[in-house]
Amino acid sequence: MEENDVIDLLIHQHNMIKDLFDEVERASMSERPEAFRRLVRMLAVHETAEEEIVHPYARRKLEGGKEIVDDRLTEENEAKQMLEHMDESGVNDPEFMSNLAHLRTSVLAHAQNEERYEFAQLREHTSEAERRTMAAAVKAAEAIAPTHPHPGVESATKNVLLGTPAAIMDRVRDGIRRARGDKS
Ligand SMILES: [Fe+2]
Ligand SMILES: [Fe+2]
Repeated sequence: MEENDVIDLLIHQHNMIKDLFDEVERASMSERPEAFRRLVRMLAVHETAEEEIVHPYARRKLEGGKEIVDDRLTEENEAKQMLEHMDESGVNDPEFMSNLAHLRTSVLAHAQNEERYEFAQLREHTSEAERRTMAAAVKAAEAIAPTHPHPGVESATKNVLLGTPAAIMDRVRDGIRRARGDKS
């Protein structure tokens, strides 16, 4: 990914998330598990990177940052619970498609709120260098959990794709904190 500005990068990921929802919706029953895993992975990487890297910064630096970020975290937690529920009940659950539509509406509204209320202000209150540093950290989080299977590494990818949404988020969070040099 080329984006060196964290805001551009996160908006790009919002578009990828939208595409992945399309893919799950269009997938045949046999393609559905894999398509859903890709969506889970992307959401886990994206929301965890925001929570670890971007929201803390916005909370400190933006006017009304605390309220803005608290609202975003409420939305993120709601989506996580839905995702966790869908993961537990599985892709063959009769409610899967209606849950997916509900999750999509909620996640995309959340993304729009971020772009409108958080990212726009953040762009004004950060330097290019700060946005570049944060972009590098988000990319490192993505590298911990690859989003695109490459031909020839199917089995490795399948292994990486295992785990509940919460487990994937924990792994990404640990990776970000280790890369940052936090003491655990
Ligand atoms: Fe988010
Ligand atoms: Fe986001």
